Amino acid sequence: MQLTPEQRQQFDRDGYLFFPSLFSPDEIRVLQDAVPALYERREVYNVREKGSDAVRINFAAHLVSEPFARLARHPRMVRPVMDLFGEPVYMHQFKINGKMAFEGDVWQWHQDYGTWLNDDLMPTERAMNVAIFLDDVNAFNGPLMFIPGSHRKGVVEANHDLTTTSYPLWTVSNELIAQLVERAGGKDGGIVSPQGPAGSMILFHSCLLHASSSNLSPWNRVSVYLSLCAVSNHIRRFKRPEYIAHRDFRPIECLPDDCLQVAYPVEVPWKAGLPASALVTSSDPIDAVRRAA
Ligand code: SIN
Ligand code: MN
Repeated sequence: MQLTPEQRQQFDRDGYLFFPSLFSPDEIRVLQDAVPALYERREVYNVREKGSDAVRINFAAHLVSEPFARLARHPRMVRPVMDLFGEPVYMHQFKINGKMAFEGDVWQWHQDYGTWLNDDLMPTERAMNVAIFLDDVNAFNGPLMFIPGSHRKGVVEANHDLTTTSYPLWTVSNELIAQLVERAGGKDGGIVSPQGPAGSMILFHSCLLHASSSNLSPWNRVSVYLSLCAVSNHIRRFKRPEYIAHRDFRPIECLPDDCLQVAYPVEVPWKAGLPASALVTSSDPIDAVRRAA
């Protein structure tokens, strides 16, 4: 899938692109069917909501489950990002966010690049999120909210919030969010919220400010996020464990377009369990770690 010049312009202006129903219901079913077995595992890569057994985030399913390993190499998700960066990309992070019916908690306002810079020492913002809906997303089940054009602000000030939810996040103050929303049009388009059927895809810039509210509806809102980073922009520190911030900087090689329906062989090295190495962390930059080795 190649982006048109109009789509590139739109991306530069707004910081995101929305592709409703890009994947068919048959393709999505393959992924939906694989989620319960992943969520029921008692592994550190399943982060549960505060005080609840509901999964908030499942990390690294592309190393555990064949359908997700194929999705991680899907040309409809990966090629547009390679095109925009003009170079190969690697998988920095792979998440299946639950946002389960009645239990899914908020995501505070943040930029993903803030976390990737502060925690992982990713040198620049040449990384991108590509989300795919595994459930229909509507106004009631906690859809993503964006401030259009906010990516053009670059990295903004953030504070490490360790308490609001079960997952630490570098979050942005209400004052700054109010200013940015006003600048983006206030009540007239200052916040947008792409909604649509399962199978819809969103591509968004790593500096785009985003958030989502809790899910008080009876409908799950499971979504998969591929965070793709330009290979030359790989992270420089392993402060977070490998199941959260990956260390395999090899370029992704795409599979054919029908890879959700045809079982092309893929490696799933963590299928039998997480290796001990996936939990090792260091607060030193990787050059220092390599010099010491
Ligand atoms: C995220 O920002 O990483 C997730 C937001 C959401 O799933 O609502
Ligand atoms: Mn985010």
